[in-house]
Amino acid sequence: MSVRSQIYAFTAVLAFAVGPLATPAVAVEGDADRGEELYAVCAGCHDLKENKIGPKHCGVVDRPAASVPDFTYSSAMEESGIVWTDEELHAFLTSPFTYVSGTMMGFVGMYDEQERADVIAYMRKFSADPELCGEAQ
Ligand code: HEC
Repeated sequence: MSVRSQIYAFTAVLAFAVGPLATPAVAVEGDADRGEELYAVCAGCHDLKENKIGPKHCGVVDRPAASVPDFTYSSAMEESGIVWTDEELHAFLTSPFTYVSGTMMGFVGMYDEQERADVIAYMRKFSADPELCGEAQ
């Protein structure tokens, strides 16, 4: 195989690999039960009702960023203007540092779209559950 055709072959593979990233952000259905297991990754820093290293998460879905009154956010988060819809959560969780440049959320990202959808489904579920979130919203 010539160098040139190897480059072509490589480019074709690359285009194929990058292709799925260009699909719309919210293309898959989330599974809240699986999301609850995956939330273990977040639970080192987040709780539903208590602030830890990160802000409490009850009620976060569909709410403007940086709205927990007794948590001190980065100015990057305060000035982001984000509302945490499914789409914004997908974008942020894929790569927090890139999406909110200057965020102090020390989490590299969740690259798998299905895993993000599952975690977001769980967040949506607990936010609407009075047993889990009570008045904390
Ligand atoms: C290493 C600690 C850490 C981990 C792990 C972590 N976070 Fe965070 N998170 C933070 C911090 C700190 C902030 C506040 C960021 C800021 O002010 O810039 C934050 C902020 C957020 C916010 C914005 C909250 C708001 O009130 O606006 C969301 C949403 C969020 N995290 C979701 C997640 C999810 C989902 C996971 C797991 C996939 C996760 N985080 C994992 C520390 C973490």
